[in-house]
Amino acid sequence: MADFVLKGHICYSESKNELITRENAYVVCVGGKSKGVFTELPQQYAVLPLKDYSDCLIVPGMIDLHIHAPQYAFRGMCMDLELMDWLNCYTFPEEAKYMALEYAERAYAIFVNALKASATTRAVVFATRHRPATELLMKLMEESGLASYVGKVNMDREAAEVLVEESAAVSASETVQWIEAVKEKYTNTKPILTPRFIPCCSDTLMEHLRQIQMAYGLPVQSHLSESPGEIDFVHFLRPDNAFYGEAYNDYDLFGKNEDNQTDVKTVMAHCVWSTDEEIDLMRKNGVFVAHCPASNMNLSSGIAPIRKYLDLGMNIGLGTDVAGGHSDSIFRAITDAIQVSKMYWRYVDQTMKPITFPEAFYMATLGGGAFFGAVGSFAEGYAFDAVVLDDTALVHPQELSVSERLERAVYLGLDTHGIRAKYVNGEKIIF
Ligand code: GUN
Ligand code: FE
Repeated sequence: MADFVLKGHICYSESKNELITRENAYVVCVGGKSKGVFTELPQQYAVLPLKDYSDCLIVPGMIDLHIHAPQYAFRGMCMDLELMDWLNCYTFPEEAKYMALEYAERAYAIFVNALKASATTRAVVFATRHRPATELLMKLMEESGLASYVGKVNMDREAAEVLVEESAAVSASETVQWIEAVKEKYTNTKPILTPRFIPCCSDTLMEHLRQIQMAYGLPVQSHLSESPGEIDFVHFLRPDNAFYGEAYNDYDLFGKNEDNQTDVKTVMAHCVWSTDEEIDLMRKNGVFVAHCPASNMNLSSGIAPIRKYLDLGMNIGLGTDVAGGHSDSIFRAITDAIQVSKMYWRYVDQTMKPITFPEAFYMATLGGGAFFGAVGSFAEGYAFDAVVLDDTALVHPQELSVSERLERAVYLGLDTHGIRAKYVNGEKIIF
């Protein structure tokens, strides 16, 4: 892997409130990791090849903590229903098509090409319950140069017969075969356990997943407290649980469980309606929240109390949740997160201050990046994931600071036409 230096206007988060901008600065990549940002290039790096992106903005790659690859095909349609009906009427019939590898090949190629062209460098991805199609998606993701966790979905109840797995035992055995096939196959593409959500996973299946998690040590992704109808159904299915998240915690699939001395890296999408008890446990267990504001609007799910989660110091990042969310743009998710937080403040709770741009940018980079380790910043030691943005098309008559240019680049969606280069782990993957 080649070492190099990039020059440009460098923007990155050092903490949730600190957006650093350095004009005409240098960021150094050695062995796929950042050596830090410098206004004067240290002598020891002067020998490295330098790529001068002069007036461009250089930002860490965006992290999508929650996206459904098979739903990319119907993004921007079918927006007239709430979650449970939307799943049954549109999502499950579409996902059933991935039984046919020929369809999966066409659809996943489109998805991967789009993600590669976007500002996203890393993603946590739901596939479908089908093992061959999931393995194919992982192969395409690895070839793209993007970094990801990809999950074969588990679902053994409460879905159309064409999609639901035959039994908990079959679901578990397919999962083990899939993990065995992919666990050491790729550098940038790793498996993640993916119980779809409690309504689709029987207690027996959850027990199998607990065992599989213990055997392989995989992280976990799922959905939590997204929509009122879903939550009512979980209370009906599991009346003994005080709150929804307890159903995952009962099977040690909910972050760090001190009682059982287990520690499972976990990301839960949405958490719109989490109760105080649920929030307490997520915080204590270090569960990541994937905030997906576009999806929460499209499916009329609600507005997640993100100010509360940030102020509690919880792990939190952004997700697009395509196709609940209609766009795969994390820039768009940043603006959506800020906008919905303003509606929350105005309509729901005036003690909850709106999210600021630096906070939303943090969630999109360093906040979500933490799920992957030292990712999402240019501080020394972080994985070198970078996006170079050329904003010359956004002409302006007045002087603008670098942070103003960055905010505008995000709000005006420069990720659709302004990307000049993209790096993952120090490898240039586009342009
Ligand atoms: N809950 C269970 N499955 C899904 C899904 O595919 N999308 C969303 N938004 N929520 C879910
Ligand atoms: Fe989702």
